[in-house]
Amino acid sequence: MITVVVLGAGNVGTHLCKAIHASEGIKLVQWYNRSKINISNHMTAVEQCYNLSKLATADVYIMAVSDNHVESLSNQLPFENRLVVHTSGSVSMRHLNKKNRRGVFYPLQTFSKLAELDFKDVPMCIETTIKKDRSFLMSLAKAIGSPAYKINSEQRQTLHLSAVFVNNFTNQLYRIAHELVDKQGLDFEILNPLILETAKKVLIFSPYMAQTGPAKRRDNKTLKTHLNLLEKNPNYKELYEQITKSIQKTHG
Ligand SMILES: NC(=O)c1ccc[n+]([C@@H]2O[C@H](COP(=O)([O-])OP(=O)(O)OC[C@H]3O[C@@H](n4cnc5c(N)ncnc54)[C@H](OP(=O)(O)O)[C@@H]3O)[C@@H](O)[C@H]2O)c1
Repeated sequence: MITVVVLGAGNVGTHLCKAIHASEGIKLVQWYNRSKINISNHMTAVEQCYNLSKLATADVYIMAVSDNHVESLSNQLPFENRLVVHTSGSVSMRHLNKKNRRGVFYPLQTFSKLAELDFKDVPMCIETTIKKDRSFLMSLAKAIGSPAYKINSEQRQTLHLSAVFVNNFTNQLYRIAHELVDKQGLDFEILNPLILETAKKVLIFSPYMAQTGPAKRRDNKTLKTHLNLLEKNPNYKELYEQITKSIQKTHG
């Protein structure tokens, strides 16, 4: 039986705890957070911990805390020579304190506490200082249903950067579109089929092949009409111009 302590009760910590708790062959021995954890009904059996000096013994300690606090929390852990991993896409493994065996368990997915998620859709990017620990983390990932990949820090940072483009930036563009259609009294849902088709298409064609629209076609009159519509919003206008330029450079 693999034993795990999760530190952090935000988006990632909560999803990890639920997945570990529901998996066979793994025991979530403790769930640490610096402030009160919102425990759901089916998780009440899990021991909560709010004091680092009372952390239980486990095979691995998964720190799902804000990037800025990974290093300081690893410095405060009151034990040595145990396996300690973080879940960040951008923090180097070197930022973990050397007194413990170090690793990364980065889930390449977007997590929100309220959105259900199946870990079969969460590629797990794994890095360790010791080979034996890597095999262990691979088994842990598989036990919660995740496909596991050996990824070094440099590759992980590039994956994280790409994730920001495909998820965070795309989502911000959805938000802008939401605001624009709202102002015309339209429902954002009318764009749902287009959103889904755009995502489905890049699973089949390359993003280069999948591109359409006035920027690629160089339909200058349409581009001007769009820019006029954005006249009152210089932020969005600038964004439109920058992305248009980028598309035209790619398809030059
Ligand atoms: N969200 C995602 O989609 C996603 C995806 C992949 C990887 N990640 C990575 O996973 C990690 C956690 O992200 P998240 O989205 O779960 O963050 P989050 O929802 O903002 O939760 C942050 C967690 O860090 C704890 N924390 C913050 N400052 C702390 C400190 N000074 N000392 C101890 N604990 C502290 C918070 O405790 P309190 O509850 O007390 O505030 C909370 O448990 C980050 O490294 C992030 O890069 C996130």
